[in-house]
Amino acid sequence: MSDKKIESILNENRVFPPSDAFVAAARLKPADAEALYAEAAADYEGFWARLAREEIAWATPFTEVLDASNAPNYRWFADGRLNVSYNCLDMNLAERAGKTAIIFEGEGGDQRTLTYRELTDEVARFANALKAHGVATGDRVVIYMPMVPEAVIAMQACARIGAIHSVVFGGFSANSLRDRIIDAGAKMLITADGGHRGGRVVALKAAADEALAAGCETIETVIVLKRADCGAAMQDGRDVWWSDAVAGQSTTCDPVPVDAEHPLFLLYTSGSTGKPKGIQHSSAGYLLAAKLTSQWTFDLHDDDVFWCTADVGWVTGHSYVAYGPLAAGATVVMYEGAPTVPDGGRFWSICERHGVTIFYTAPTAIRALMKFGDDVPAQYDLSSLRLLGSVGEPINPEAWIWYHEVIGHGRCPIVDTWWQTETGSIMITPLPGVTPTKPGSCTKALPGIDVDIVDEAGNPVGSPEEGGYIVIKRPWPSMLRTIWGDNDRYIETYWQKFDNRYYMAGDSAHRDADGYIWMMGRIDDVLNVSGHRLGTMEVESALVAHDSVVEAAVVGFPHDIKGEGIFAYVVLRGERPTGDAAESLTATLRDWVGKQVGAIAKPDEIRFADNLPKTRSGKIMRRLLRVIARGEEITQDTSTLENEAILDQLRGKA
Ligand code: WTA
Repeated sequence: MSDKKIESILNENRVFPPSDAFVAAARLKPADAEALYAEAAADYEGFWARLAREEIAWATPFTEVLDASNAPNYRWFADGRLNVSYNCLDMNLAERAGKTAIIFEGEGGDQRTLTYRELTDEVARFANALKAHGVATGDRVVIYMPMVPEAVIAMQACARIGAIHSVVFGGFSANSLRDRIIDAGAKMLITADGGHRGGRVVALKAAADEALAAGCETIETVIVLKRADCGAAMQDGRDVWWSDAVAGQSTTCDPVPVDAEHPLFLLYTSGSTGKPKGIQHSSAGYLLAAKLTSQWTFDLHDDDVFWCTADVGWVTGHSYVAYGPLAAGATVVMYEGAPTVPDGGRFWSICERHGVTIFYTAPTAIRALMKFGDDVPAQYDLSSLRLLGSVGEPINPEAWIWYHEVIGHGRCPIVDTWWQTETGSIMITPLPGVTPTKPGSCTKALPGIDVDIVDEAGNPVGSPEEGGYIVIKRPWPSMLRTIWGDNDRYIETYWQKFDNRYYMAGDSAHRDADGYIWMMGRIDDVLNVSGHRLGTMEVESALVAHDSVVEAAVVGFPHDIKGEGIFAYVVLRGERPTGDAAESLTATLRDWVGKQVGAIAKPDEIRFADNLPKTRSGKIMRRLLRVIARGEEITQDTSTLENEAILDQLRGKA
């Protein structure tokens, strides 16, 4: 981004305050939120220290709060000791032993529930199995599993003995798995024969074998859960079935106290370039914020049924499936499969049958399900829902309104939560009983999170229209601690830009006159058209606001006159048009965007496709779209694409 301003021309004026009934029952009411903000402003460290004392059961209490002596490698509560699994499980046994911790549903319809007592026992047995196979405190364990309770059991078991887990999303290829195992220097791999996804069996053990066949010498043991009955070649002396590993193991396993800063997990995430980074998180600071944000953002009450649809392969599945809600004593739903099996009503059917009260998903899923029409959710009783959440990308106002009306029946506040793998927990979000929401805005930072929007020089942007870099100005407890094995890259990527003073998130945003934050996309997704900066998301939102459009992705490409032109990939509600029909719709949509945003935002090129190229986590692969928009040859690895066949359409060749 140059010092030219990012201009925001998205215009969304609707405001949705929470209902009186919601506010009356909310954990945090306006006065509570005000008190928290005031406390954090008056004594930042004291604020976090108080919460850490109240919310965490310490084996050894801390006396130091924030250690900035080696900044930006900050340490929190560093002389305290604790065990994360003890905090998530044992701490709930006194009052909630018989309460359901996990409600699980497989893609094929099989169901299972685990109470807190049962989950604690299973975690202890598996932790004992880990120890029996030589895993000790500080060892790395890679988890490559379907979305089944055993994935959470494996994570919690690692935490129980202080082993560092690194979950690799089950949709990643053998190559990606191998790279992560090698980078982490993992001693053990935990996987399954296979999992169910999209009506098919994903053969995880076969992929694991492929990964292990080349390198990965550090792996001594592979534990294999039988899930899909698809067979697995078991290698003598290395591979052990899960059921054999836990057979005869005791349900008692004393939690090992670790230092507050002991790494709880690594989670690999892609940067804009280069190999994936192993984001390293701490034990105490991470746990504290995962628990607090579960309570604050999702207004968790004891009778809630909380469903975060994220896979445990992503940070959302760590903080809001495996750790935060359990630390808060909640009942969580886990679903193994795709949202469209057997049809586009699956999510709503799960909500109805399990009485889900809080539902947290990604805009890409909302848009995909929107495509099936309003009749589908109308077939289900969604009256148990009381709060909806969104995460992962900006939610366009059209999807927001659909979510609010068709799923939430106008009754449920929507929390649009902005955060990152690196931040560990939600940073910017409405508080559901406090913040009037505006569709498309993630509103304001949580108490104790010092977010700002700054210009190239690191100064706060002046006017509401002016966009800039999202930065976090003070260290926070759940921040990443480093990039595993590459502290230089940690400093370079997140801190150098502003002289190690501020954490730079890599996103751009602006504030409106009410102080509401509007995310404008990644910094590298900002377009410069005729000297005007435009967030790609704003053009996308405009396109998606058109009746015929379901999804759109916009990238820049070099343009002789304008500097950068706008290239839009568009997925329509119905059939993909060709020939004259395509031409006429292109003209219509260009005019439409011109009207919605301004003539400057009119796409130069529109290409229609049946789908967009997405990673298996649902993120649109923009780099690929940029390559295609420039008419260049694709050289990057496309093996992680959910739908590789789409490439020819995008190139205009099919
Ligand atoms: C984007 C997912 C707008 C953002 C928790 C961020 C969002 C990246 C939102 C992190 C949101 C996430 N509105 N953009 N509510 N939430 N993002 O690491 O660009 O998978 O930097 O973490 O997703 O993605 P990650």
